[in-house]
Amino acid sequence: MTNCSDEDSDSDVREPIETQLTYQPLVSLKELASFPVGMIVSAQKLATNTQFKAYLNNDFNSVTAENDMKMRSIFIGPNNYDFSKGDAIISYAKQNGFRVFGHALIWHSSIPDWLVNFTGTDMAFEELIETYIKETVAHFSQEKIILNGQEISVVAGWDVVNEAFTDAAQNAVFRMRLGDDYVAKCFHWAREADPHVKLFYNDYNLESQSSKMVEVIGMLDDFTTRNIPIDGIGMQMHIDYISPSIQTIQSNLNALLQKDVLIHFSELDMTVNKTGLLSELTFLRAKSQEDKYRAVAELYSEIPENKRFGITLWGMRDVESWLLNFHGNINEYPLLFDASYNFKLAHRGFSEGLN
Ligand code: XIL
Repeated sequence: MTNCSDEDSDSDVREPIETQLTYQPLVSLKELASFPVGMIVSAQKLATNTQFKAYLNNDFNSVTAENDMKMRSIFIGPNNYDFSKGDAIISYAKQNGFRVFGHALIWHSSIPDWLVNFTGTDMAFEELIETYIKETVAHFSQEKIILNGQEISVVAGWDVVNEAFTDAAQNAVFRMRLGDDYVAKCFHWAREADPHVKLFYNDYNLESQSSKMVEVIGMLDDFTTRNIPIDGIGMQMHIDYISPSIQTIQSNLNALLQKDVLIHFSELDMTVNKTGLLSELTFLRAKSQEDKYRAVAELYSEIPENKRFGITLWGMRDVESWLLNFHGNINEYPLLFDASYNFKLAHRGFSEGLN
C-alpha cells in the first residue's frame, strides 16, 4: 500500500478514494425494478416499528411473513386456526400498496407439536392437512384489490411445500402419513381452495447444486404429465459472497428456464464472513458483496418478463438476519441495510443491477 499522507505533493489532484460503507440512494429499489421487490415482515414489526415501516414503504412493494404465516403460527389445534397475524400483515399490505406472498403451507421445520404427536389414523391426519390447506388458502384469498380494472387477491402466491428434498422432510409426518405423493396432494388442495393464486415449490441450494435442481425439474415434469397444478419455483438464494459463483447460479437458473414456470428469488441474503475472521464489515468485503448483489440482480433482470415473479430479501438490517443465529456468528452482514438503517454498498450494487 502506498502512503497517501498530506505531504504527498499531488494529493489534491487525486480522485477521492471511496472508503465509506454506506451511500445515499437517489431512486428506490421498487422504482428501479421491473418486477416486485419483496421484504420479510412480522405483524409485530408492522404494529410497532415506525422506522422499519418507513424503509419498507420506501424501497419495497411485496411482503412475505418471516414466520407469521407458517403452519406453526396458524394451525394451533385440530380445526383451530389463528389467522390474526397474517390478517394484520394483509391489512397493512392492502393499505400501503404491497403484494403479499404466502410462506409456507407445508414445511418440516414448522409443524405444530400437537400435530407431530397426533395419534389418530392416517386418514384422520390427511383430513386435517387437507382442511388446513384449504381453509388457510381460502381465508387469505378473501382480501381483494383492484389492479388495472381487475379484482385480484392481495395474496398473490403461496409456497405450498418448502424444502421437500431433504432427509428431514422425508422423515417428517407429512410423507409418513400422507404417503410418497404428499407433495402433489398438497398442490391439488391449494388449487381447489383458490383457482387463481400462484402455487410455488420453494427450496434452498437450487442455485448451487445442479443435482437438486435436476430433482426439482423432475418433479415439475412429473406434475405436468399428471396434471398437478404448479405455477412457480422459489429459489431461496441464501448465498455467500464467494460461493456459489455467479456462473454456477446462472447455469442452474438456465436449467429452470427451460421449464414453463414463474421464478421467485424468494429468500435472498448473502453471508460475507462464514469463516468468522472479520469482527466488522471491512470496505473490501463490502465492495465484494456489492458486486455480487449487483450480479444477482442483473441475472434476475435478464429472465424473460413473463417468468419474473420477483426477488424477496430475507431481512432488512444485518442485525436482524436469521443467519446470525443459524451460523452462530454475530459478525455477519448479509443484507442491504446496516444496524442503523444506513444503505449499505450492497444496496447500491443491488439497485444498479436492477437498473
Ligand atoms: C427462518 C426465519 O427467518 C427464522 O426467524 C425462523 O426461526 C426459522 O425460519 N428457509 C425458509 C425460511 O424457508 O422460512 C426460514 O426462515 C429460513 C430458511
